[in-house]
Amino acid sequence: ASILVLNGPNLNLLGTREPGHYGRATLADIEHRLVAMAREAGHELTFVQSNAEHVLIETIHQAGRDGVQFILINPAAFTHTSVALRDALLAVAIPFIEVHLSNVYAREPFRTHSYFSDIAVGVICGLGAEGYALALSAALGRLAQDPTNE
Ligand code: DQA
Repeated sequence: ASILVLNGPNLNLLGTREPGHYGRATLADIEHRLVAMAREAGHELTFVQSNAEHVLIETIHQAGRDGVQFILINPAAFTHTSVALRDALLAVAIPFIEVHLSNVYAREPFRTHSYFSDIAVGVICGLGAEGYALALSAALGRLAQDPTNE
């Protein structure tokens, strides 16, 4: 199956950006780990990061046209602001897991609201880069349960 990993604004700065919240792993480190995991399970993984809301939305639309079967998304700051990104995920109806590196519940109150959590398969936060690997492992498990996802 084909899996899309989407990362929102400022996540291109991982490694140097507020390491106390986001750790030292770069986005490239995370990508390499996920690609290897997906490949081992016989699946294809596409990794996209953008600082622009419209690029993330258009990437989701394209995923719908391409028959992508699962999305992992860290919408970053758009988590707390973007009805448009929520609507894009609803439009394509691709199951997704929401990932956050930091524990958003232990930070500013505005980070506790997400436009995505109620429509996500699940949410992982506070476990750093490991959260992406855990989310992918859950996605791979779900794909393995459905034989049409070869
Ligand atoms: C984040 C949490 C968001 O509140 C923040 O705006 C981010 C990253 C995380 O991964 O912890 O940019 O999504």
